[in-house]
Amino acid sequence: MKKFVKIMAVIAAMGVMMSFAGCASTPTASKVKEKGVITMATNAAFPPFEYLKDNKVSGVDVDVANEIAKDLGVKLEIKDMEFDMVIPSVKAGKFDFGAAGITIREDRLKEVDFSVEYVKSSQYMVVQKGKSFTKDDLANMVIGVQQGTTGDLYASGDFDEDVKAKEVKQYKSAVEAAGDLKLGRIDAVIVDELPAKTIVEGAADKLELIDEKLTEESYALCVKKGNKTLLDSINKTLERLMNEGKIDEYVINHMGK
Ligand code: ARG
Repeated sequence: MKKFVKIMAVIAAMGVMMSFAGCASTPTASKVKEKGVITMATNAAFPPFEYLKDNKVSGVDVDVANEIAKDLGVKLEIKDMEFDMVIPSVKAGKFDFGAAGITIREDRLKEVDFSVEYVKSSQYMVVQKGKSFTKDDLANMVIGVQQGTTGDLYASGDFDEDVKAKEVKQYKSAVEAAGDLKLGRIDAVIVDELPAKTIVEGAADKLELIDEKLTEESYALCVKKGNKTLLDSINKTLERLMNEGKIDEYVINHMGK
């Protein structure tokens, strides 16, 4: 009998130890639930994915993030910052995830973990109306880009060293670069497809899109490396939204705004 009690005590102790170990090995999905809040890092200068509307960040990525928060049963908090701070601040654990139309890249995969891809995109050139350029003209062109984006990397010859602008001007946003383009201070802006279309829609008398796909890219959300439970939960929401055709719906809703 004594022996039996001892064995039971050992089993109970093991159970307690295992449940502690369980806590330690399940990181942020449970921490997020505990806090009751999930935090998102973004750069709200990238319509239709994220832009300021009445001083509030809205867009496709915000709609997606609201669903992620809803599925976790928590509140969403959004922090707007420079685009090139989104990945570093998620990496540093300052925010639970990054959502900013972020293209999956080898070098970025070393910094953070990416979700399943939820949007396909490409870089395009926006030019002054009536101008016709192709990528073969880049060597003679001054190109405006948002700093740290794939447009920046493309214009700088990172995708193909033979395709490189004469000069790359970095701006805080592609919208700001487009302002300089209208004034003729640069020859083109290189930016992702839907933001390019949004920029042109807003200035159809002055700007146009060159119908030449420059890259093939896919967007994903990102989390701090190793944060598997949160990533699983994000992926589940993304898969659901894609199956329900919601992402396309969000894009349609936020275009032309
Ligand atoms: N897809 C491009 C990249 O990952 C541009 C993303 C810019 N996003 C933004 N919210 N400003 O580099």
